[in-house]
Amino acid sequence: MALDLGLKGKVALVTASSRGLGRAIAHRLAGEGAKVAVCSRDQARVEETAQTIAEQTGAEVFPVVADVSRAESVNKLIDEVVGRWGRIDVLVCNAGGPPSGTFEMFDDEVWQRAFETNLLSVVRLVRAALPHMSKGGKIITIASTSVKQPIPGLILSNTMRAGVAGLMKSLAEELAPRGILVNTVCPGRIATDRVQELDESFAAKKGVSVEEVRRAVSAQIPLGRYGEPDEFARVVAFLASDANTYVTGQALMIDGGMVKAL
Ligand SMILES: NC(=O)c1ccc[n+]([C@@H]2O[C@H](COP(=O)([O-])OP(=O)(O)OC[C@H]3O[C@@H](n4cnc5c(N)ncnc54)[C@H](OP(=O)(O)O)[C@@H]3O)[C@@H](O)[C@H]2O)c1
Repeated sequence: MALDLGLKGKVALVTASSRGLGRAIAHRLAGEGAKVAVCSRDQARVEETAQTIAEQTGAEVFPVVADVSRAESVNKLIDEVVGRWGRIDVLVCNAGGPPSGTFEMFDDEVWQRAFETNLLSVVRLVRAALPHMSKGGKIITIASTSVKQPIPGLILSNTMRAGVAGLMKSLAEELAPRGILVNTVCPGRIATDRVQELDESFAAKKGVSVEEVRRAVSAQIPLGRYGEPDEFARVVAFLASDANTYVTGQALMIDGGMVKAL
């Protein structure tokens, strides 16, 4: 029997989706026939994203300018999506990553910004979207493999992602009676602009080339390479789909085997 994802006609909102993982997920969901709202803080970029995905998939793609770290922007985003399509079937919470660095580099202001961008944004998105979601709905948040194995030099991310994983695990239980499935997806090393920037900054710090950094990191990954954004997006598409009826409360590593923990 063919595996029908059943995403045709579903309404999906993918935040922080003008580049990288968010964009790849939006593209994949649109390719499977969903109506997809995309957002980012930059109007030109988000409009270009919507236009490109719509042209390449034939799907309806709705661009919204929104900053997920701000409460009023999140509420406006949900209002706009619901105003257009009347409901939300799939919510994918994503945001830009916090700056890299170690404990003594950051004051309260930076911690607060990381909290609002990477943890409170998820709380606000779920709170605003829930009244518009029903049985069969899916909530997916992008975190990091740091939820299992903290990454040296990424203390802000390590801390906020653990909070997200705890939030999502709790929500999975609270929302199960309503038939809404909740999962966290954890990228290891997926080739996006963000990862390129992290590699460049690490290379500069160590005085080596970016290629050397990439080679050394790839050697830590059993599959021997960085992942491609669509390899990540395909897993999210399954979790978001009607084919997923029994996976909830999971933090799933999508990392080519990089994390060694059980
Ligand atoms: N790629 C990986 O392997 C990897 C590994 C671990 C964790 N992650 C995490 O996964 C998330 C996505 O990573 P990525 O590699 O796809 O990043 P990316 O290539 O830097 O893309 C980030 C996207 O988020 C948007 N964005 C950033 N801040 C936003 C905000 N406050 N409100 C709305 N949109 C916002 C950006 O658009 P604008 O700038 O136009 O707003 C852009 O579209 C990040 O949190 C990252 O830390 C990624």
